[in-house]
Amino acid sequence: MMQLRAETTPWLEVKDLSVSYKEGIPSLRDISFSMKQGEIIGIVGESGSGKSTLIRALLGLLPVGGQYSGGEITFRDWVLLRDSQQNWRGMRGKRIAMVFQDSGSYLNPIRSIGSQYVEAIRAHFPMSRKEAWGLAVRTLARMELDDPERVLHSYASQLSGGMKQRTAIAMAAALEPELLLADEPTSALDVTTQNEVMSQLSKLCADKGTGMILVTHNMAIAAHMADRIGVMLDSRLVELGDTLRVISNPEHAYTRKLLDAVPELEGNKHDQ
Ligand SMILES: Nc1ncnc2c1ncn2[C@@H]1O[C@H](COP(=O)(O)OP(=O)(O)OP(=O)(O)O)[C@@H](O)[C@H]1O
Ligand SMILES: [Mg+2]
Repeated sequence: MMQLRAETTPWLEVKDLSVSYKEGIPSLRDISFSMKQGEIIGIVGESGSGKSTLIRALLGLLPVGGQYSGGEITFRDWVLLRDSQQNWRGMRGKRIAMVFQDSGSYLNPIRSIGSQYVEAIRAHFPMSRKEAWGLAVRTLARMELDDPERVLHSYASQLSGGMKQRTAIAMAAALEPELLLADEPTSALDVTTQNEVMSQLSKLCADKGTGMILVTHNMAIAAHMADRIGVMLDSRLVELGDTLRVISNPEHAYTRKLLDAVPELEGNKHDQ
């Protein structure tokens, strides 16, 4: 039954979404797509094409100066955006969460990681401190952070950049959002750590049925992680399709150009 529902009902639906920062210069133009429950969509595209703007727009968190100039966003039964009316209350953090490139650097430097973590969990779940601490330990362990207790007793300055970023990702995942919006969550990490954190993140998503929109510069990561790949160019979503189809038979010239730059995907392509 669940399967049938998931197959037929759009879960996140975005229609003709447009955003601009300045009058007359759109950063998103008529973006439309829908997403099934638990799906992972990878978004790639050149710098400045609107990827971060899209992620922020989906969460109603446009930077100062950003404006919705049209479109609709619905998530399950909720209308999040219609006629420029925004209604994200109760969604952020709990049902839809976001991690970005430097999430780790937003940890409060003057409070222990544990107290922030426990507070975030208790803001969303009716739990005792002790239960919340236990949940924090389990999620950190699943991010394969050694000695989660030590991490929780630490202050941000006592952790490496990679540890902070993993902690921030684990914290977002601990709240069990239904949809995770991730804007280059690992691009500040070294390549080995990037791959590890990505695979832990995809495991967490698979376990909990969490859907994800993952923005990445790295086509190989998108190909590895995503059910579908979307390609952005100059404020438009110029291609969106099943990962295998996009890689083996890209429709847009710009997608072909991106693929040509990734030698390890070469074997999957048939040039035409
Ligand atoms: N806070 C802002 N104020 C004004 N313009 C902005 C702001 N943020 C982004 N823009 C503009 O919107 C467009 C899209 O930017 P965005 O950050 O969404 O691109 P991106 O695809 O995420 O790029 P990158 O890959 O470099 O992160 C760009 O032209 C950018 O200059
Ligand atoms: Mg960006």
